[in-house]
Amino acid sequence: MKLAVLGCGNMAQALVVGMAKGDKSLEIFTYTPSFNRANDLALLVKGKAFQNCEDMPPADIYLVACKPQQLDVLASSFSGLMDSEATVISILAGTTVDTIKNKFKVKKVIRVMPNTPCLVGAGVNAVYFCPEVDGQIAFKVQALLEKTSSVYVFDEENQIDAVTPFSGSGPAYLFELARIMADKLKGLGIDPHDSEMIVKETLYGSAKLLRESNDSAEVLRNNVTSKGGVTFEALKVLESNDLSGIFGKALDQAHNRAKELSK
Ligand SMILES: NC(=O)c1ccc[n+]([C@@H]2O[C@H](COP(=O)([O-])OP(=O)(O)OC[C@H]3O[C@@H](n4cnc5c(N)ncnc54)[C@H](OP(=O)(O)O)[C@@H]3O)[C@@H](O)[C@H]2O)c1
Repeated sequence: MKLAVLGCGNMAQALVVGMAKGDKSLEIFTYTPSFNRANDLALLVKGKAFQNCEDMPPADIYLVACKPQQLDVLASSFSGLMDSEATVISILAGTTVDTIKNKFKVKKVIRVMPNTPCLVGAGVNAVYFCPEVDGQIAFKVQALLEKTSSVYVFDEENQIDAVTPFSGSGPAYLFELARIMADKLKGLGIDPHDSEMIVKETLYGSAKLLRESNDSAEVLRNNVTSKGGVTFEALKVLESNDLSGIFGKALDQAHNRAKELSK
């Protein structure tokens, strides 16, 4: 199977390196306007980089991985070069299946919403296969994505917009919390490097415990909260300032934005 990667930035690299691992049946072509990152990725996956899109042989699957604002230029570069029977996987945030169909004049589109933990093989891919995608291709693409991170397939495209504020944006909420905690610790006179590492290891360990434990987040929280203790005091402040409400509002706002971008 021939996979052409159009746009070879961080996210494409995270996905394609995982997909290529141990798969000798996958022939990979890469393209970016500046060539550099196409060449870097091709070297990593034993693929072939192209400087001119006209020179790229036809592929069965095209992974479109530029920024949404770069899509028009990319689509016009490939105008007339893509077989209408080819399958296009798009990872562009807020870009609908219909937009991809129109831009590339294809019928078979797969929308994937990955997240940055895919860079360390611990991400989440939310996937929607449009009805025209062949079962065999869908099976193959799902298997390839499962090599990179976990995969959740949705029956409705709008469910991708619902999941985006959680899995796509979710890492940013945790990084913001990490920033706040590390800054506070530094402010208390703890060595800056130690502060960063203490917070990183705490969040990493907590995420690992949350994932591996059979207990819910609520039970795990209660296990570290004794009435009148240190954690109890901190949670009391968060609760009295309506953390659940604020966070809920933030997620609603992000969902509205995802829906708006998909229009
Ligand atoms: N980062 C996230 O958390 C996240 C999560 C989910 C989805 N996404 C989506 O993933 C996509 C890529 O994000 P990223 O962070 O990987 O971006 P990135 O690192 O900026 O990479 C963009 C790539 O697109 C290439 N490109 C630009 N114009 C092009 C064109 N006309 N034709 C072909 N390739 C072109 C760039 O080429 P050069 O190397 O030549 O500059 C670069 O390799 C975005 O659409 C984003 O919405 C990102």
